Amino acid sequence: MLIKHPLDIFPSEITPPEVYRGRRAFMRATGSLALAGSLGLQAGNAAAGVKLAGTRPGPYGTREEMTPYKDVTTYNNFYEFGTDKADPARNAGSLKPRPWSVQVDGLVKRPGHYDIDALLKLASLEDRIYRMRCVEGWSMVIPWVGYPLNELIRRVEPLGGAKYLEFTTLNDRSQMPGVRTSVLDWPYTEGLRLDEARHPLTLLAVGLYGETLANQNGAPVRIVVPWKYGFKSAKSIVRIRFVDKQPVSAWMQAAPREYGFYSNVNPEVDHPRWSQAKERRIGEFFKRKTLPFNGYGEQVARLYAGMDLRRYF
Ligand code: MTE
Repeated sequence: MLIKHPLDIFPSEITPPEVYRGRRAFMRATGSLALAGSLGLQAGNAAAGVKLAGTRPGPYGTREEMTPYKDVTTYNNFYEFGTDKADPARNAGSLKPRPWSVQVDGLVKRPGHYDIDALLKLASLEDRIYRMRCVEGWSMVIPWVGYPLNELIRRVEPLGGAKYLEFTTLNDRSQMPGVRTSVLDWPYTEGLRLDEARHPLTLLAVGLYGETLANQNGAPVRIVVPWKYGFKSAKSIVRIRFVDKQPVSAWMQAAPREYGFYSNVNPEVDHPRWSQAKERRIGEFFKRKTLPFNGYGEQVARLYAGMDLRRYF
């Protein structure tokens, strides 16, 4: 994110419009998530998704056109696999999403290690079509599969002193070529206030387009927080720690003036190096206006009542 200015990323890195149009017409004709998924797989991305059975439609779905699977899985930020948008799809084949467990500890009554297959069965899986807005100025509409993070939180029973969650993601040189560079102080960490983490929009995501996550999208499990800039949605998480003090995320550590703890999508607060008023939806030519809280204000604005969102950016 420090490396690329939003104006640098278009138009050479995006799929030509005629390819989008063909795929969009196809998706309209079939309306099928599963078919769209297999279309992407035939296109040969780094990790083959496995169909997730028994998912059900979740709340908050947008009717906006979904970003094609191919773009969701080939235009990524996952610096552990390189800083170019195409690097994660190219390099994430070395990530091993099994065996995998997530350590949940800190200020909770029931700390423990959750095996990924146990996590998958912890609550019923929902399809959640969310708008996602990257701090760099592009956006997508992604049909995630997962369940509210709160399903896990309530099972571990946070103690009274727990005010924040800190997410730590995998930091393994043998699987992730990018962590040999010093572009960030690894591991990639992120954080949420407890009430943000418990909000029903906040997802523990294990899939997209009806299938398990492709490695480049954060297999086998990631966080998705749709009203915040994309970097808050930590990929390939290995630890969730409940703490009493606001955690310092990897991006806050790297560039504190540019990346704040809250990072709510806010068209009125510019990034120090560019405006956040507009965004380019991947696959569209003209920019569109960015909405406060990425369009989820009705659901989340109350979490920030009385806060100066310029100060707490
Ligand atoms: N998680 C890890 N571990 N490493 C990363 O580099 N990049 C973040 C976020 N999660 C990142 C991460 C950023 S900047 C964005 S925009 C989103 O992942 C991108 O998610 P996507 O590639 O699935 O769209």
